[in-house]
Amino acid sequence: MLRKKKEYVVAVVGATGAVGEEMVKTLEQRDFPVERLRLFASERSEGKILEFGDEEIRVESLNAKSFEGIDIALFSAGAERSKTWAPVAARSGCVVVDNSSQWRMDPEIPLVVPEVNPYDLAWHKGIIANPNCSTIQMVVVLKPIHDAARIKRVVVTTFQSVSGTGRKAMDELLQQTTDLLNFKEIKCNVYPHQIAFNVLPHIDKFLENGYTKEEMKMVNETKKILGDNSVKLTATTVRVPVFRCHSESLNIETEKKLNANEVRAILCDAPGVVVYDAPDKNIYPLPVDVAGKDETYVGRIREDESLENCINMWIVADNLRKGAALNAVQIAEKLVETA
Ligand SMILES: NC(=O)c1ccc[n+]([C@@H]2O[C@H](COP(=O)([O-])OP(=O)(O)OC[C@H]3O[C@@H](n4cnc5c(N)ncnc54)[C@H](OP(=O)(O)O)[C@@H]3O)[C@@H](O)[C@H]2O)c1
Repeated sequence: MLRKKKEYVVAVVGATGAVGEEMVKTLEQRDFPVERLRLFASERSEGKILEFGDEEIRVESLNAKSFEGIDIALFSAGAERSKTWAPVAARSGCVVVDNSSQWRMDPEIPLVVPEVNPYDLAWHKGIIANPNCSTIQMVVVLKPIHDAARIKRVVVTTFQSVSGTGRKAMDELLQQTTDLLNFKEIKCNVYPHQIAFNVLPHIDKFLENGYTKEEMKMVNETKKILGDNSVKLTATTVRVPVFRCHSESLNIETEKKLNANEVRAILCDAPGVVVYDAPDKNIYPLPVDVAGKDETYVGRIREDESLENCINMWIVADNLRKGAALNAVQIAEKLVETA
């Protein structure tokens, strides 16, 4: 449990990565009460200097004593590192907010989106899981609709940016784009196919049921966050050559009928959501506009004319912010509020 203090010793594990860098920026931008910030990454980055406000902080590698004296650790260094180090950190008395997939479906560990299920923070035992990026932006929108009209089924198709795979994938998209425009051969290291000027219906590993792990994360994590196993969901997750922001097409069937204007009104009042929906003026959410923003943007809200009680919409959020760093910092803020 977090002890009430004026300021906290905070660690970011994976500080040199795409999410870690955003975490450091978010802590600074939101004026998180940081007494001291410690930054960790692999041995490759040991000694590297990163900035936090006007401070310069030396990156450290991890060891058994790293977490002594740390109050809150934001982990973003992959599932293997979380498996090894999050329990070590929790045993040292530090509260871990973990961005990896390692603990998300563990029944002993809360999976939290502060706008949706902040009450689940009450039962944490030292580790709190941050959901998958494509799930976070979706549940922020689903929750108020579920409360108003009870969701029966969701069909989601995602259009996910390369930053969701991390820094190396962003470099690969840039390099392939440059090489193709210069008539050079391209190399595929991160993805199994060319990502520049292409679309890959494949995110994470394929499972025996024909779905990918990313698709099943969306199914399972949504039920856990909403605390409702009756919500049916089917997902197709797609990687697109966009640097930042995941877009999703949602088809939501509800028990009670809601028309498009009622859905707009519900979402206008929902925390963390911006309704950006005036198609007659070409206004709808776009990754290039939403990059760097905190909220999930919703547009193209319309009734599904092929089915009773069903709504279509298009949602966009910044996967590095709400999908990862911001959600983790918001969890830490809630912990501080209730300490
Ligand atoms: N990108 C997203 O949108 C997103 C969203 C939600 C969750 N996540 C999750 O967040 C995690 C990080 O993702 P990312 O996109 O930031 O990846 P990334 O850009 O590849 O960064 C990985 C980070 O992990 C560090 N690391 C690697 N091995 C380590 C070790 N042995 N000990 C300590 N640190 C180590 C790296 O340090 P070096 O620089 O020294 O190698 C780097 O700081 C993953 O678990 C991912 O699933 C990502």
